[in-house]
Amino acid sequence: MSSSNTPLSLVALISGRGSNLGAIVHQCQQHRIPAQISTVISNNPDAPGLRIAQQAGIATRVIDHREYASRDEYDLALMKAIDETAPGLVVMAGFMRILSADFVRHYAGRLINIHPSLLPDLRGLNTHARALAAGNKQHGASVHFVTEDLDAGPLIIQAAVPVLKDDTPESLAQRVLKQEHRIYPLAIAWFAQGKLQIHGDQVLLDGKQQPEQGFGAAQKKAYSPQPLSS
Ligand code: GRF
Repeated sequence: MSSSNTPLSLVALISGRGSNLGAIVHQCQQHRIPAQISTVISNNPDAPGLRIAQQAGIATRVIDHREYASRDEYDLALMKAIDETAPGLVVMAGFMRILSADFVRHYAGRLINIHPSLLPDLRGLNTHARALAAGNKQHGASVHFVTEDLDAGPLIIQAAVPVLKDDTPESLAQRVLKQEHRIYPLAIAWFAQGKLQIHGDQVLLDGKQQPEQGFGAAQKKAYSPQPLSS
């Protein structure tokens, strides 16, 4: 975490659209996050999010997974590129690759992800369609530290949205995405301000366990504090 006056240096990993990246860039530019994105790395050369970074004057790199023979080789190359910038935090913002255990261990406590469900519900892909198929009344998004278990690391913040009668996966995704753009910058701001501490499988905010965490029913009562202003 950053010392009081030096902004935290971030690397963001993306694969596609980059709307979360855009929200984070915006809040950094507004000085609501004491952090600076040094580099955006994409595994996909065509990721529209690369343009968002370039327009904001952020360095970009493409490390295309198709050019590597194995996951381990790819992850090593990715690690090398990230470590060249010596980031305080690595932010996965729609990075659609599973990372090897070595990679995750290397960044333990400084690698975070946003997942479009109220974890621990609906790990993995296609969460919006699965929320509808399961008849869930609530759905949402979670920001978490990344551990070796997919979508199972300590939760930093969640936001819930209602599932409406006529929802399609797309309409539900849109409602969830709005919340993602609210909670991801907030989680990064907390990290950059040194407010987060990992305590076992819990995250403490300002030394306190968030009451909404760890009760195993996130969908009933998700954590939704005040957003950063837009
Ligand atoms: C988001 O829904 C995020 O939760 C998931 O991938 C999507 C990325 O969207 N991990 P974007 O590229 O940030 O627009």
